Amino acid sequence: MKPIALADWLQQWLNTGSGEPAYRQLYRLLRQAILDGRLPSGVRLPSSRELARDLSIARNTVIQVYEQLAIEGYVHAASGKGTFVEDTSQDTVDSASSAAWGDHAQATGESNRGLSMRGRRLMDRLGFSRRQYGAFMAGLPDVAEFPAKAWLRIQNKHWRSSPGRLLSYAAAGGYPPLRQAISAYLNSSRSVNSKAEQVVVTTGIHQALDVATRLLCEIGDTVWIEDPSYWGLRNLLISSGLNVEPIPVDGEGIRPSQRDLRRPPRLIVVTPSHQYPLGMVMSLARRRMLLDYARKHGCWIVEDDYDSDFRYESRPLPSLQGLDSAGQVLYVGSFSKTMYPGLRIGYMVVPERIAPAFASAVAELYREGQMMTQSVTAEFVREGYLSSHVRRVRNLYAQRRALLIDAIRSHYQDSLDIIGDEAGLHLVLALPDHVDDVEICRQAFDRGIMVRPLSDYYLIKPRMRRGLLLGYAQVQQEQIGPAFRILASVLDAHIAEGQHPAPGVSAPAGRT
Ligand SMILES: Cc1ncc(COP(=O)(O)O)c(C=O)c1O
Repeated sequence: MKPIALADWLQQWLNTGSGEPAYRQLYRLLRQAILDGRLPSGVRLPSSRELARDLSIARNTVIQVYEQLAIEGYVHAASGKGTFVEDTSQDTVDSASSAAWGDHAQATGESNRGLSMRGRRLMDRLGFSRRQYGAFMAGLPDVAEFPAKAWLRIQNKHWRSSPGRLLSYAAAGGYPPLRQAISAYLNSSRSVNSKAEQVVVTTGIHQALDVATRLLCEIGDTVWIEDPSYWGLRNLLISSGLNVEPIPVDGEGIRPSQRDLRRPPRLIVVTPSHQYPLGMVMSLARRRMLLDYARKHGCWIVEDDYDSDFRYESRPLPSLQGLDSAGQVLYVGSFSKTMYPGLRIGYMVVPERIAPAFASAVAELYREGQMMTQSVTAEFVREGYLSSHVRRVRNLYAQRRALLIDAIRSHYQDSLDIIGDEAGLHLVLALPDHVDDVEICRQAFDRGIMVRPLSDYYLIKPRMRRGLLLGYAQVQQEQIGPAFRILASVLDAHIAEGQHPAPGVSAPAGRT
């Protein structure tokens, strides 16, 4: 982008009436332009005097922004020559690579023309796949196991009785008996502390986060996400115009640095019961730290509890929301994993003082419906069908998980680590740093196997670990071994490639 085009572009986005300081807006826009390649490495930025004049802002503001960008490594100043954009490709994941595996929708440059900057950023890193079944697609339950007969019986009853009122738009916040049933279910199974009025029915976790960002954040506010994290929510936040800060995780969950802690975000999105995708559980000490920090700095926490009903070695863990005495946590979940994803019914438990606003917002923004489905779901949950279904499939998934672990172990012995297999619907097969997990996924896809590359879940490149997410819950037992052997044939070639053993030295056992 030429300096003059840069000033024009910035002018479009700077909004002096927004309440966000000009310094902050300019910093955010320049950083974003560097990260998404609009300002490629080596480009000289306009001088602070020129840019201040073109944007009608104080020169000191521009100088301050340039200094901040230099501290963070996005630009460097060459004395007497100007300020130049640094090469940041080492720091962020190449968006093209994250959009390039599998068969998910590829938005072309042509079709992106005319989109907003937010729209283009979303198209640059799409994560969804057109195929939503098959070995080893992560994040899917076995929908064939859903007790369709019981569901149909309840549904028929509701249609026969008085469907009229259930066929209209829904009351704000969802069908009241469903809010009641969800509250009771979560209080007993997840140690959530809720009243029915705090429950807002949504179409899933995605919609819950969407409404939370609209009601709680201004455009440009900072939101912390775990790095690595689920691409769906990450992209939702990025395309909402928020400043997404990827915070590292360790064995105890999200771990902000002292530097991060000095700049409190507006929102913190975490998966405390089962970090996605690595699978660790947030320790009690980290939970307390996070709650304390959020209370002191007025941050909101979104607890994404997407799959904690499936824990194989121990009981499911109590929620973070249950520990929150200050009303800072919004608990979000859905029936996507416990019933079936296409149902599109989720829920949020919102602190009491803001719950009416959330119920109204969902009605206003999305014009709620599905009352018939919500009434059937309410009875399904209230009468215990959900709990017994979860108990039954948990045993089935445990068997499939064991079969997959056996298949991995018998091929690779202990040479590859298995991570995060204690809970959920997938595990992570860790790979050596030299292998290209994105390429492996592409090749596996061509052979009919769906796996996701672990590296794709990271935003900060130096933190990136290589591995594969393997979903096992929806793979029939008899398919697990054969499907894994196909995957292993792709994997073996990649693992062997980087090893190049010297003549006469054999590769480590199980790796060839
Ligand atoms: C961590 C995480 N959060 C949220 C979701 C999406 O949930 P929903 O179907 O309720 O929108 C997923 C889906 O796989 C997920 O993995």
